[in-house]
Amino acid sequence: MAERPTQDLSEALKEATKEVHEQAENTQFMKSFQRGQVLLREFKLYLASLYYIYSALEEESERNKDNPVYAPVYFPAELNRSAALEKDLEYFYGPTWRREIQCHEATQKYVDRLHHVGQYEPELLVAHAYTRYLGDLSGGQILRKIAQKSLNLPKTGEGLAFFDFPGVTNISKFKQLYRARMNTLPMDAATEKRIVEEAEKSFLLDIEVFEELQRLISQGKPSANGSAVLPKLELHTRGINRPHSPAATVENVRTQMWHKDMLPSTPFLRWVLALFFLGTAVAVGLYAM
Ligand code: HEM
Repeated sequence: MAERPTQDLSEALKEATKEVHEQAENTQFMKSFQRGQVLLREFKLYLASLYYIYSALEEESERNKDNPVYAPVYFPAELNRSAALEKDLEYFYGPTWRREIQCHEATQKYVDRLHHVGQYEPELLVAHAYTRYLGDLSGGQILRKIAQKSLNLPKTGEGLAFFDFPGVTNISKFKQLYRARMNTLPMDAATEKRIVEEAEKSFLLDIEVFEELQRLISQGKPSANGSAVLPKLELHTRGINRPHSPAATVENVRTQMWHKDMLPSTPFLRWVLALFFLGTAVAVGLYAM
């Protein structure tokens, strides 16, 4: 006879993913996000990745909505994110957003795993739903505030639909309900172990996505629409990222880059220029005396 689990699934998941959670929080991408240093370009790439991930998760969720190994945690009205992400992507990229975004390698790997799980190992789907949705309802709420401030997004919420859960009136109570529902899922000890391992895997897939986004930004790799991903120094968020007026954003970035371009590019030339100005100031001073 199959052995029963000795611990509730919700507790087992929380305990087992503590370490990978810390790892995710400490990725360079998440650290700069938390410091309010997220760049508009980075944020847009992040939303695009999330769009592919949630489309896959929600497609598989739909496929398994009547499957007893998933049905108790099927909450489309409360949790689904893909429609919200579509709104955000349209806000940032404009009406042609579908043509502008690209599914990069790490995101594709995540998407493939979600489809595999949904089709062939549906009892593991809860692990992915847990990692994403409970994460969005927890740390995601902190990230929302940071994004709004550091990207100068409108307080009315445009561009931040992903973080908003209008179908959930009390987040804390909803998380309790979700955990309780996870604990009613039919499973033996071996299946619980596999679910816990899958949740760890899903965190690692997220981490790979963050690392890839970081790489894309720092390499200045061209995006799908051909425009270069600007390096950090040239596209810092504060004061220049105003996505609610996209033209102004581009203009602001250009203006900032133009000011930078007016300065000599090497430290040596800057020193020469500084000494020249100093010398002139001293000469004018002496002359005036
Ligand atoms: C800077 C990034 C992050 C911060 C500040 C953060 C913060 C938090 C906090 C404060 C909680 C506890 C909430 C509570 O006990 O009610 C939490 C829970 C959680 N977070 Fe994060 N988090 C971050 C990133 C992530 C990422 C990247 C993921 C997954 C991809 C994630 C998944 C989760 C999950 C699944 C939980 C629920 C744990 C449980 O109650 O079982 N978090 N997070």
